[in-house]
Amino acid sequence: MTRLLFVCLGNICRSPAAEGVMRARAPDMEMDSAGTGNWHVGEPPYGPMREAAQRRGVDLSGLRARQISTADFGAFDLILAMDSQNLADIEALRPAGDATPVLRFAGEKDVPDPYYTRDFEGCLDLIEDSADALIRRLDAMRR
Ligand code: 4NP
Repeated sequence: MTRLLFVCLGNICRSPAAEGVMRARAPDMEMDSAGTGNWHVGEPPYGPMREAAQRRGVDLSGLRARQISTADFGAFDLILAMDSQNLADIEALRPAGDATPVLRFAGEKDVPDPYYTRDFEGCLDLIEDSADALIRRLDAMRR
């Protein structure tokens, strides 16, 4: 479980933030993020999210949005969806015979989309808690 892909809708708010937060906690792991939609492909993370992350010491400025593709199922060991809709959209893309685990990043919860809620701080709080929980889950799997 060393290659992780974080997925949200636009790949400019939640999944790049999750990637950045997890990268800081697990620098030895390979990570990327992607969106199920294509509207923002090539763009950096959304300004207000970038600034909120920067205030917590997480630099998202080098990231660029891309759309998830079927090739991602072979390229990653674990795919983390930000909400139930992302999960359903990811499952709809899964190639026949693929068994890559796809989990919700925040466990039982959805990570609400701050592009619409405007609650960037609450989003980052949940992402930080979820990243800590994911590290514990990954550690437990390794034992
Ligand atoms: P994200 O937020 O999925 O957390 O990156 C979104 C940002 C933009 C759009 C949707 C979601 N949009 O439709 O433009």
